[in-house]
Amino acid sequence: MTREEYVEIHKDTFLEELFDLLRIPSISADSAYASDVQKCAEYVAKRLKEAGAENVTLEKTAGNPIVYGDKMIDPSKPTVLVYGHYDVQPSVPDNLWHTPPFEPTIKNGNIYARGACDDKGQMYMHVKALQTMLETGTLACNVKFMIEGEEEIGSTNLGIYVKENSEKLKADVVLISDTGMIANDIPSIDTGLRGLSYVEVEVTGPNIDLHSGTFGGAIANPINVLCDMISSLHDENRHITIPGFYDNVDEVSDKDRAEMDKTPFDLENYKTELEVFDVMGEKGYSTIERTGIRPTLDVNGIWGGYIGEGAKTVLPSKAYAKISMRLVPSQTSTEITEKFQRHFESIAPKAVRVKVTPHHGGEAAVTPTDSPAYLAASRAMEKTFGKKPIPTRGGGSIPIVALFEKVLGIKTVLLGFGLDSDAIHSPNEKYGLFNFYKGIETIPYFYEYFAEVK
Ligand code: BES
Ligand code: MN
Ligand code: MN
Repeated sequence: MTREEYVEIHKDTFLEELFDLLRIPSISADSAYASDVQKCAEYVAKRLKEAGAENVTLEKTAGNPIVYGDKMIDPSKPTVLVYGHYDVQPSVPDNLWHTPPFEPTIKNGNIYARGACDDKGQMYMHVKALQTMLETGTLACNVKFMIEGEEEIGSTNLGIYVKENSEKLKADVVLISDTGMIANDIPSIDTGLRGLSYVEVEVTGPNIDLHSGTFGGAIANPINVLCDMISSLHDENRHITIPGFYDNVDEVSDKDRAEMDKTPFDLENYKTELEVFDVMGEKGYSTIERTGIRPTLDVNGIWGGYIGEGAKTVLPSKAYAKISMRLVPSQTSTEITEKFQRHFESIAPKAVRVKVTPHHGGEAAVTPTDSPAYLAASRAMEKTFGKKPIPTRGGGSIPIVALFEKVLGIKTVLLGFGLDSDAIHSPNEKYGLFNFYKGIETIPYFYEYFAEVK
């Protein structure tokens, strides 16, 4: 039987199994879902075993378990390490979902559910591709699976696991489907990920909430001050003003920038989809460059004072914000976190106290476009899409990728099938049925071509 025939016969079952996976609310950020996270790990392990993987285990960590499994067919063949994550982002705000986040629903050829694209749908393509290759006798490489449950909270325990198991995880390439491509008819492969520095800041004014009439105008309002401080972090050209912030930024050559500018990108359509009248960002760079090769600073959340119904006059005691900085090679998250902290403390007026608490971070990564693995991925996509994929730079972060390189000495291929419009981390996340099955079709060609050239 050909792979195509095998998938055709089993495609409904593949989808039902994915639906069962999507029904488990494996939200790693919220401890209330700890038992669902555990259940999800067990479900992935069970399916991986059924698909034909051997040595399937739930690897204990200080946090959520890692699902490991492998299929070693021939020591003379190359080994592919498949990485993915079974944890998902919280679904809030739930009222903005048109269908419940953990009841997967098909509409207009898309699967709607939290994790549909990021990353359950994409990760599960690899499980079903393995099954298909084994059932049709076409597996061309050795394969190891490592599916974690803490990607959305920084992969700290996976980092420790990787360091402690470098021998076990030995491979020739890491294969990940946790990114996107330009469009279903414009295949592309991400060749870079940004790093991340994430901090929380607390600004304290008076020791208690005060009457804003009695004290307003005389005592520093921490929310006003926080807003001043945050707005001073960008100048009029939307450059970041933190001293030394750009010190280690790898500038991209004019030639490479000109190459990037050839990436198909429809600015008008981009604006229409997001319902914005204009884009905004660092002066001197295009939208693609702003998300691909430039570092950024964004407030992710800001709160304090009275936010209940109606008006309550209050001069709050405290204000808070969560701030993320996306980093590019060769900035490091520790360096940037320190620079942020020093600067933020230095710009605080004497009338308030500030506290900066670093959260998780991660380093940027770039992947080569001339390696045997990249070329195998490119050929695989060309085979199934009928078009050669375009190399692009992704704006998101997968911190473990830099660690795979540093600790295991292995480069990664980001064979992603998502779309920017899949609303990952947002309400109404989706993943196309086209993309799910296209992934299952494409992945085996990667193994085939990689075995040929490696
Ligand atoms: N799959 C995403 C990363 C991603 C998305 C890369 C789109 C490229 C394109 C991943 O699950 C994610 O969301 N990562 C976090 C970082 C993590 C440390 C919380 C991110 O990018 O915010
Ligand atoms: Mn992801
Ligand atoms: Mn994510």
